[in-house]
Amino acid sequence: MSPVPHDPLRVEDCDAGGEALALLEGAARTYRSGAVAVEALQPVNLCVRRGDFLAVMGPSGSGKSTLLHVLGCLDRPTAGRYLLDGRDVSALADRELAAVRNATIGFVFQRFHLLADESAVRNVALPLLYAGVGRVERARRAAEALESVGLGPRMAHRPNQMSGGEQQRVALARALVKRPRLLLADEPTGNLDTVSGERVLSLIQAENAQGTAVIMITHDPEVAARAETTLLMRDGRLMAGPRPV
Ligand SMILES: Nc1ncnc2c1ncn2[C@@H]1O[C@H](COP(=O)(O)OP(=O)(O)OP(=O)(O)O)[C@@H](O)[C@H]1O
Ligand SMILES: [Mg+2]
Repeated sequence: MSPVPHDPLRVEDCDAGGEALALLEGAARTYRSGAVAVEALQPVNLCVRRGDFLAVMGPSGSGKSTLLHVLGCLDRPTAGRYLLDGRDVSALADRELAAVRNATIGFVFQRFHLLADESAVRNVALPLLYAGVGRVERARRAAEALESVGLGPRMAHRPNQMSGGEQQRVALARALVKRPRLLLADEPTGNLDTVSGERVLSLIQAENAQGTAVIMITHDPEVAARAETTLLMRDGRLMAGPRPV
């Protein structure tokens, strides 16, 4: 939970507080292929503070993943600005963007995105490898992250030797292993049964309680209800959802 509730769509408030972790100012994303242009994300203002927990709902194709990819530095806005921790990252080159991502962001995908031929512990250790952490320290921290999601006994298993819920917890451990300040989750429970989904949600909530800002996409109103604020995406526009501040 954020220390002081605020309206994430009002960037003016955020500026005044001067404590924005992630700040989109008129950020937009247009995809072009040949003569066709898709305005997947219309200019959006969004302010995310430390400890926020936002859910984003909206129909398929409305631009939710596009928004999350921009916030996660997996993509850049084609217009407007993105300030992450006060730094304008909208125009960074790929390598710099990857470095910022590695340092600040944890990302959980709907389809886990684990390396199929690597064990759970090696999957989780990957962001540490990219960050230049030594082998022994990597193994220690990856094991710790797996323990924290209840997968101590599955360290050596490969993804195809684990259930969907377990794979998603491995993906969550990988997202959290570098203690990100911003956790982004694109339908983290979309492919899980109720019990596994509940376990993943509880872990995300526990992480948020430690101060990590969380933005989670979901189609499920009950899942969205776990967040502090729900935003709605429609035709590339972001607006207050059914449970605004
Ligand atoms: N790489 C791309 N090139 C061209 N158009 C794209 C690309 N990625 C997404 N789009 C288009 O942008 C729009 C928004 O896509 P996005 O994936 O953000 O939707 P979404 O809200 O996440 O949908 P879903 O709920 O189905 O995951 C869609 O119309 C989609 O076809
Ligand atoms: Mg999507």
